[in-house]
Amino acid sequence: MAHNPVQVLSRYNEAFGDTFRIYLGGLKEAIVTINPLVIQHVLKTNSENYHKSEIQKKRMGHFLGKGLLTTEGEAWKTQRRLIQTGFERKQLEILSSIMQDSLADSLRNFDRQARTGPVDIYPLMMKITFSMVARSLFGARLRDEDIDLISVAISTVQEFMVRQTIQPYLNPWFAVSGELQRHWEMRNRAFAVLREYLQRRRKEAPGHDLLQILMDARYSDGHGMSDELILSESMQLLVAGHETSSNALSWFLYLLSSRPECVDRARDEFDSVLGEKPLTYSDVPKFEFTTQLIMEALRLYPPFWMVDRVALADDCAAGVEIPQGATVIVFIYGVHHSPQYWENAETFDQERFSKAKEKLLTPFAHLPFGAGPRGCIGGNYAMLQMLMILSVLLRKYDFCTVPGQTIEARPMVILRPEHGIRMTFTEATPRGVGRLSDCSA
Ligand code: HEM
Repeated sequence: MAHNPVQVLSRYNEAFGDTFRIYLGGLKEAIVTINPLVIQHVLKTNSENYHKSEIQKKRMGHFLGKGLLTTEGEAWKTQRRLIQTGFERKQLEILSSIMQDSLADSLRNFDRQARTGPVDIYPLMMKITFSMVARSLFGARLRDEDIDLISVAISTVQEFMVRQTIQPYLNPWFAVSGELQRHWEMRNRAFAVLREYLQRRRKEAPGHDLLQILMDARYSDGHGMSDELILSESMQLLVAGHETSSNALSWFLYLLSSRPECVDRARDEFDSVLGEKPLTYSDVPKFEFTTQLIMEALRLYPPFWMVDRVALADDCAAGVEIPQGATVIVFIYGVHHSPQYWENAETFDQERFSKAKEKLLTPFAHLPFGAGPRGCIGGNYAMLQMLMILSVLLRKYDFCTVPGQTIEARPMVILRPEHGIRMTFTEATPRGVGRLSDCSA
């Protein structure tokens, strides 16, 4: 279970049905479900009765302070309302140009590396997406070295938090050995970098980024957020947006590398919608086919393979008794792969998300961005970001997966490719000419 919970829970689903109970650590009751009706009830209809798990909130809260990921109730609701403004249509249209500039910068690095031979796309996608999110938050002038420092701090601290959670008996050792302190200092360095940007901004003209939205936000009594809250909210957005889109893109490219006809159709779509123009948020709804591809990739490899909630009071969801204090594990990967809700569930088929077939989808059976009031605040941003990156990568390169490597999905917090994914990128050739030959040579 510790090594690969996705495999174990999928087997349990087959053996015990779509909802079953397990006892975490032999003690704590958890209800694992892939039943869309139970999921709808817990995440949406009666979401007021469910909080995020303490483990997540406590560990994260220790390092990240207060913010969307670590608060509940009225405090969360108020913050969500204020921060939501930053992800609305108008703001995403404004952010598009910061994102495009960041992409152009990152692509120079990508291109340099790709020209040297096969590359592991996972860290490269991470670098592209993280720079974009960081600059969307702190502005175009955020320096590369600061982005790297923050990115390394987030990855290292996140890994440490996972160890603290799955090996809690080591926590006393982490304290005496200095491990805890070392991670705390790393976190402090990242916060100090962001604090400097915030303080500088206070003396400068307003920016067009998310930092400005957080600085300008006002509560009903007219007060704004404190600097510490702005920093912890920013850090939480960076954490939430850190590995998600990069994972989605890595799996997307892997899946598409053996589907040249899909690549051709996506290229046609980019050409006809954009021509030479850069993509902005208002273009997003025009990419019907590429969006279908992204949705299908997110179905097969959902970055969040599960989300969990704890019941505040006894409840009954679609006939399932949920006692107070029980943890409900919404097994997103499980419902995305269930033959109950998907025909030929293991087969890649973007047509499932076509306009003609969309009506046949079971509600709450496709949840890459979660659902209900605590669903992803960055979903529209992520779609814009992925389409923007693909609009360049798919048209600029032919690509294929290097044969003979083990590609395995490892469910940590995020479902990441355990050994990376090595791929070859070459200058795009005219339609269909020898596209896959490099990798099979
Ligand atoms: C493909 C990319 C992404 C995926 C698949 C994804 C998925 C999710 C999911 C499933 C949740 C719900 C977690 C739960 O219910 O416990 C979530 C929440 C969240 N996401 Fe995303 N996300 C993505 C990108 C982003 C980006 C780019 C940002 C920010 C820039 C972001 C910010 C957040 C935040 C702040 C929350 C917590 C919302 C709250 O509790 O109110 N996400 N995301």
